[in-house]
Amino acid sequence: MEFKKELNKYQEIINNELEKYLRKQECPEKVLNQAMEYSLMAGGKRLRPILMINVYKIFKEDYNICIPYAVAIEMIHNFSLIHDDLPGIDNDDFRHGKQTNHKKFNEATAILAGDGLLNNAYQVIAKNILQEQNLETQKQKIIAFSELSNATDRMIAGEYVDTEFEGKAISSDYLEYMHKNKTGALLRASARIGAIMSNASTEDLEKITKYSEIIGLTFQIKDDILSAIGDEKILGKPVGNDIKRGKCTYVTKYGLSDSQKMLEKLTNEAIEIAKTYKENGEFLENLAIYIQTRNK
Ligand code: IPE
Ligand code: IPE
Ligand code: MG
Ligand code: MG
Repeated sequence: MEFKKELNKYQEIINNELEKYLRKQECPEKVLNQAMEYSLMAGGKRLRPILMINVYKIFKEDYNICIPYAVAIEMIHNFSLIHDDLPGIDNDDFRHGKQTNHKKFNEATAILAGDGLLNNAYQVIAKNILQEQNLETQKQKIIAFSELSNATDRMIAGEYVDTEFEGKAISSDYLEYMHKNKTGALLRASARIGAIMSNASTEDLEKITKYSEIIGLTFQIKDDILSAIGDEKILGKPVGNDIKRGKCTYVTKYGLSDSQKMLEKLTNEAIEIAKTYKENGEFLENLAIYIQTRNK
């Protein structure tokens, strides 16, 4: 199957699962629920859940056990996007070709919608762990929960560094640290949860971790490149704002051409790891290339 079609297939699966968690009832906080739904269903690529499922599939076929964790990580990702766009952070007006949450609703609602998505995510997982009868599997699920909460903590740390260095010079080490945390951490956790849930060996978990750390970095380098020279209409979010706000990015630090070279080198490293899984690693190989070449 062509890779884009395969991505679409998984996007649909994730969208259907997310639909199940939307709250539609009449209640005093109805608008808050609408704000959470607005961002969660706005048309994201669902790459974190897709990565989780496809890492699982390297080792085992039936990925249903991953679904609550895939749903949860997508909720947390969308919490991060809502807060990232807030006036106090990136102050962006558009995402997914639509108004950002605080523009569509208001700042208070957007803050709370982000908080709501984060805690909904943990509730989805807590319920799933409580329902698990098999003690070995339950332990695995607790490990997955720990991966997720730790990655969320790291994402927040990365976002802090990002805001702290606005308008300042940043060292290469700090820039890499920022990217690995603000963006890499959730991608790393997605891959590791997929591996953990499938009982992958320690050696495989290490390999998958390495792969995900590389694509976590390439994902944000490409985001920096698209933020500088992407097509706003395709991207659905503003182009050129990083420079305006004095953001530290790979493009502002190294320039476009060197950023592209680093992106290519890292992508090749990720592909080499994926190749060690032969045909089972094809999806991860294509995903690394997709991350490098995407235009949205
Ligand atoms: C955007 O992530 C924010 C970053 C972490 C760079 P995505 O590009 O994965 O966001 P959506 O969900 O697909 O819009
Ligand atoms: C994204 O950082 C990281 C998180 C949202 C955690 P950016 O601010 O660079 O991403 P976009 O370009 O707004 O999606
Ligand atoms: Mg940001
Ligand atoms: Mg931003």
